[in-house]
Amino acid sequence: MAEHVVEFGKDGRPVEPDGRLDAAAFHRNHQPIWAVLQKSLAGRSGDVLEAGSGTGQHVVTFARETPDITWWPSDFNEQHLKSIAAWRAHKGLANVRPPLRIDLSDPAWWPEMQAGGGPKNLLAVFCANVIHIAPWRVAEGLVAGAGQALRADGQLFLYGPFKRDGQHTALSNAVFDTSLREGNPEWGVRDILDLEKLASSAGLALRETVDMPANNQLLVFGRE
Ligand SMILES: C[S@@+](CC[C@H](N)C(=O)[O-])C[C@H]1O[C@@H](n2cnc3c(N)ncnc32)[C@H](O)[C@@H]1O
Repeated sequence: MAEHVVEFGKDGRPVEPDGRLDAAAFHRNHQPIWAVLQKSLAGRSGDVLEAGSGTGQHVVTFARETPDITWWPSDFNEQHLKSIAAWRAHKGLANVRPPLRIDLSDPAWWPEMQAGGGPKNLLAVFCANVIHIAPWRVAEGLVAGAGQALRADGQLFLYGPFKRDGQHTALSNAVFDTSLREGNPEWGVRDILDLEKLASSAGLALRETVDMPANNQLLVFGRE
């Protein structure tokens, strides 16, 4: 699967010698995302897992705002794990753990994370722009793991483009979906209804759907 990942640093932005990668989208989306997340996370304490952290830029940015939260970045791509570690070192934040190698398509990722010394339960799981650039089993593994990992007041935040009731919310998303599926038939923009069904099987329910810039959405799931 490792070949099916976004290659950061190929959009004209330099890759730093220490391995830090830069995602153009991060600069556009981190403030709107934090505006939503902060309603649930600012001033709270606990452990938050970021699934599919990519470059690591989101985790270090959000960690700076939440000194009482321990952030656990993760990915399964070697270059991305290196970038996350480099951003962590560069920012020197005490509340960001070293990146974990988690393959979300492995249904055992949460028990294995615990067995490896991870937290016993999570305040939140945050996952941006992953489940459409991955096979459906990644969404399945992510949601199933979140269902086991989240504490009673825990939340799962899913950011990205989504379909509603089988329909794209914008032409640009439909075009993007087609290009994703042409690149890999197992990828594609996911439907909120399918995610709600998945969440329900994991004991989670959709609490909020927030419209975001550039025809993205942020889905907030909590315990049923
Ligand atoms: C488009 S990038 C998004 C990265 C970051 N969340 C962001 O918004 O900038 C998708 C990320 O998902 C990761 N990914 C894809 N499949 C995965 C899997 N099975 N398990 C864990 N991470 C995965 C990729 O390595 C990549 O870092």
